[in-house]
Amino acid sequence: MLIAGNWKMNKTATEGVSVIKNILSSVQQITSVDIAICPPFTSLASGSALISQENVWLGAQNMHHEPLGAYTGEISASMLKDLSVSCVILGHSERRSYFGETDEFINKKVLSALQNHLIPILCVGETLEEREQNRTMEVISRQVRKGVAGIPEQAIDQLVLAYEPVWAIGTGRTATPEMAQEVHAYIRKLLSEIFSQQKAEKVRILYGGSMKPDNAASLLAQPDVDGGLIGGASLDAASFVNIIKSAL
Ligand code: PGA
Repeated sequence: MLIAGNWKMNKTATEGVSVIKNILSSVQQITSVDIAICPPFTSLASGSALISQENVWLGAQNMHHEPLGAYTGEISASMLKDLSVSCVILGHSERRSYFGETDEFINKKVLSALQNHLIPILCVGETLEEREQNRTMEVISRQVRKGVAGIPEQAIDQLVLAYEPVWAIGTGRTATPEMAQEVHAYIRKLLSEIFSQQKAEKVRILYGGSMKPDNAASLLAQPDVDGGLIGGASLDAASFVNIIKSAL
């Protein structure tokens, strides 16, 4: 299991320190769940100084695919690696919709992350309109196929997928466990077609979208749900830790 917290554009570096400390003090005994804390870039340096537990990863929320250069405002994989970052959220629906990120652009970032030994958490998910038009699987298929294009066989173990239905993000409206399982199983089937069944079994597929302490256990109990990507409920150390505990 992997439980990842996506803070989005919340918390100053000063505020972040106390949240990270509170999380760390509550998870010292937990070794069977991997935990990722993905604060804004401005909290990565202090996060990296605080985290030493092997199963607690520091994560970023985005990166650029080029190694360096004239890309004002951007951050590269090597800059993240230098701060002991282990994973990076890519293709989040907010990046797709507010910042115009395309499947092709996201794919470049996924490949660059893997080349730099960063674990990409590739997000996919349909909008409400697409679900109502029965286009969920078509959208997921396109986003997954284009997102993972060109990944070498030996790097697949490092890939994490996150199914985040756009209509469930930050809305308090969660997919039912059955809905999540249906799409997760479909994503695994796609991965087994693109790579192999054996490789597909190894990819962790997280659910994200209004996951909270009171609904996490039933979602995480689904056979193809291998963890969660948590936004709002990860901003409070106690609720994030409660979700981690429901993955035990
Ligand atoms: P949410 O966000 O938990 O606040 O719905 C999840 C996400 O966007 O990763």
